Amino acid sequence: MTGRRPGYGRGVHEPTPAAPEDPASPQGPTLFDWEFATDPYPAYAWLREHAPVHRTKLPSGVEAWLVTRYADARQALADQRLSKNPAHHAEPAHAKGKTGIPGERKAELMTHLLNIDPPDHTRLRRLVSKAFTPRRVAEFTPRVQELTDHLIERFESRGEADLIHEFAFPLPIYAICEMLGVPREDQDDFRDWAGMMIRHGGGPRGGVARSVKQMRTYLGELIHRKRDDLGDDLISDLIRASDHGDHLTEAEATAMAFILLFAGFETTVNLIGNGLHALFMNPDQRERLQASLAAGESALLATGVEELLRYDGPVELATWRFATEPFLLGGQHIAAGDPVLVVLAAADRDPERFADPDTLDLSRSDNQHLGYGHGIHYCLGAPLARLEGQTALASLLMRLPDLELAVPPADLRWRGGLIMRGLRTLPVRFTPRNV
Ligand code: HEM
Repeated sequence: MTGRRPGYGRGVHEPTPAAPEDPASPQGPTLFDWEFATDPYPAYAWLREHAPVHRTKLPSGVEAWLVTRYADARQALADQRLSKNPAHHAEPAHAKGKTGIPGERKAELMTHLLNIDPPDHTRLRRLVSKAFTPRRVAEFTPRVQELTDHLIERFESRGEADLIHEFAFPLPIYAICEMLGVPREDQDDFRDWAGMMIRHGGGPRGGVARSVKQMRTYLGELIHRKRDDLGDDLISDLIRASDHGDHLTEAEATAMAFILLFAGFETTVNLIGNGLHALFMNPDQRERLQASLAAGESALLATGVEELLRYDGPVELATWRFATEPFLLGGQHIAAGDPVLVVLAAADRDPERFADPDTLDLSRSDNQHLGYGHGIHYCLGAPLARLEGQTALASLLMRLPDLELAVPPADLRWRGGLIMRGLRTLPVRFTPRNV
């Protein structure tokens, strides 16, 4: 993550064309170039086999350990000796904002779940869990369907669309805004601020910094207003929860609303985008899913979305962790202060854990993937992400059954972020529907 982006954040470089290297060469694969952004899986297979805990220099210049085997990844995600607090990084704090690691400059937005350890993490997570309940998500189901239908209706008579910008991007922004209790008339501002961040994540900093500031100011004011006028929304529930025994400072509440937006936004965009891409590239699986949806079944949709998360999930690398003491991980000595990045995408293709890991099998049953993480930082929004992912894919495939890529797959471009994996655009065509 970068200083610009709390939570997951953009990666530290944009892909530049580079000569591809044989992932099986003795020096190992070239990481983080354009070729790698397009298909990182051969490089991850090499690392898993030859250097499962591998020290590498990231494009930002920071050195970090990459953990690629499933068993090591699971251990690292739950290991208390790995802190989420960037203060444990051996590098000086002032350098961190430039390297993708949150620096002190952004401290007021950084007191959120993904950057803190117990006991603060336990307290904040307990508070937000009281507000972000499975019941609240379940009650939200009809609204997610409405939002989805409304977005599809905007382009379905045209016979073509860019599904990232016209569908996958707005859906989670509107969904989380409504859950938080952002009034409808303000939601387009959020869409614009978030759009600025996703479009210019790797580009000029001015506009992004301005958008973050506008969002933070808005959220601070909204929280303030809601204190006097509590409603049936997540921010009001957070305030109620914090008024009953536990406490949440105003800065913590703002940071919490912010992390929910950010953690729940680009991830879901990419679940929909990567998921559709995987279905286009595996037409037999897509046909199975369409047949099962047409028969009114939901089981394959549920296992299918989990499999899409395992096969090509949105969070390629878990967020930063820092060793608080020296220890051994996968046979490697990790020094105190070393950054550790758990490569979820590599762990989820580990043949030691998954049969035929490079095959997409929507009915895969033994599928304890790490796409939502593991341990105390396990994704808080997983039920909402599942709801949005299932609703989005089922609605598109049912309403636009002959949906297909409008460009050759080789022309698709992937964003070059460090943490997230996702497409820049997803142009499709289909038989227009008259509404
Ligand atoms: C498909 C969509 C999503 C994926 C793949 C995903 C994935 C993840 C992962 C891998 C983590 C753990 C990161 C780590 O340990 O370094 C995480 C944490 C988190 N996610 Fe998600 N996420 C998704 C959607 C959402 C949504 C919709 C929300 C909320 C609206 C959300 C809120 C959070 C929060 C608050 C955390 C931090 C939890 C903590 O530190 O205790 N996520 N997510």
